[in-house]
Amino acid sequence: MPTLTIDGKTVTVPDGTTVLQACEQAGSPVPFYCYHPGLSIAGNCRICLVEIEKTPKLQISCYTPAAEGMVVHTTSDKVLKARQDVLEFLLINHPLDCPVCDQAGECWLQDYYMNYGLYNPKFDEAKVKKPKAVPVGPTVMLDAERCILCSRCVRFCDEITKTGELGIFNRGDHSEIGVAPGIELKNDYSGCVVDICPVGALTDRDFRFKCRVWYLNSTKSVCPGCSMGCNIEIHDNRERTQRPHVATGARVMRLKPRYNAEVNRWWMCDTGRYAYTAIDEQRLTTVQQRNGQGYQISTWNDALDTLASTLRRLRDARQLDRVGIILSTQMTNEDLYAAKRVAQALGIRNLAVQGPARPGKHDDFLMKADTSPNTRGAQALGLSLDAAGLFGRAARGELSLLYVCGPDVVDTYGRSVADQVQQSVELFVYQGSNVGGSSQAAGLVLPAAVYAEKDGTFTNDQGRVQRIRQAVAPLGESKPDWKIWTELAAHLDVPVSYADASAVFAELASREPAFQGLSYEVIGDAGALLKA
Ligand code: SF4
Ligand code: FES
Repeated sequence: MPTLTIDGKTVTVPDGTTVLQACEQAGSPVPFYCYHPGLSIAGNCRICLVEIEKTPKLQISCYTPAAEGMVVHTTSDKVLKARQDVLEFLLINHPLDCPVCDQAGECWLQDYYMNYGLYNPKFDEAKVKKPKAVPVGPTVMLDAERCILCSRCVRFCDEITKTGELGIFNRGDHSEIGVAPGIELKNDYSGCVVDICPVGALTDRDFRFKCRVWYLNSTKSVCPGCSMGCNIEIHDNRERTQRPHVATGARVMRLKPRYNAEVNRWWMCDTGRYAYTAIDEQRLTTVQQRNGQGYQISTWNDALDTLASTLRRLRDARQLDRVGIILSTQMTNEDLYAAKRVAQALGIRNLAVQGPARPGKHDDFLMKADTSPNTRGAQALGLSLDAAGLFGRAARGELSLLYVCGPDVVDTYGRSVADQVQQSVELFVYQGSNVGGSSQAAGLVLPAAVYAEKDGTFTNDQGRVQRIRQAVAPLGESKPDWKIWTELAAHLDVPVSYADASAVFAELASREPAFQGLSYEVIGDAGALLKA
């Protein structure tokens, strides 16, 4: 545990800490490009130079171990001059095309130049030209002129994905990043190289020129793509719309990984990153009731009246065993709990949760075969995962009302079984977010909000309860599932009512043993484990 002095401040750091990390701890952060806490140290960009007393030359802080008694200066004249010189070198061949660069606003060259730049460059020779806007894979565009050769992207592909697609080719000022002939950058995590490229050399082909980054608003959330529950930031264009919180016009522009030491660290897979398009595609936005062969637009009030009167009639006839409810492992803990509470209050026992129709791609890094974000949460709430049994009963004519909330059961069990269900039950209700076989087969369609449009929690496969937060307004007339269930309870005079998702969670935590002691405050940004 060496103790050192940094800009006059004494700091004690764990063994193995670098001077750069110690400076950060001491509140004297130094700039860096090639250093990344998740990658090996390359020490090639030189922007992190600091002055260490009794050392004749400036030292790169990212590679120098902190040692007992060191006296470090991060803002001396010598250091500031060195940073200016490094930036001057880095910009010799840089195209300075910031006005048309998609990285503008989140470019570390821009940021550091504002602080340490020369502002009066001496270099007036012709710049070396390199390839611009070269697609190096399905998700990433390379502009070699903007690259500062920090090698972060190369090390990512060598050390994290171990796929090694990227390399540095040629020598001297002709050095450039690239892929070998016939090779594409298309590993399962390729979007991460865009995240870690500190300049505009690697940009996201999906996001390019869609929105200037200073119009983006960021919301902390969790990827719903699999049971890993990678922490993410949802970036929406709310600021562009110049409307206050959750403007109706704002939609999701991109997802970025958010650091969580216990889950995904700095990374996320491409499957999760680009699945955000489903937030707006093929959405169910209106309440619909089947009218003969087709559908007519209905109102929430009429639809919930229809559903409530069917439930009331079956309850009065003591036939609640002919009601089946199928929930989904895509639903939040709050959604599942609200449904469970209403079902319990009514005396409905046929309640089960449906998992994904088929396993997803998985690896030994982040991707899990279970493509649901909340299988553990459904288990912790004591819900049965035997939805197949319930669906089979519906197909055999043993149910009068089938209420499917979330999963596309037609996709899971096939059209012919769904046709049997459609013919056998008196009322088939589908509550979900996207158009699919189930929404086309149901007699009553209730549009539900997606994860980016509501607050709540998912429990990942570690048993970590993590918060999702509303980034944008629900599309059309869609509503969070927990809210639809409480509105149905009101139509049935069942005393289950919550003001918001946090109220659902507060009750859930007080009644469900696995969640005891948890609250939104305890969960915070990093999540909290279920009770063992
Ligand atoms: Fe660094 Fe970006 Fe160049 Fe890769 S492309 S070496 S991450 S500047
Ligand atoms: Fe230290 Fe690049 S961050 S040399």
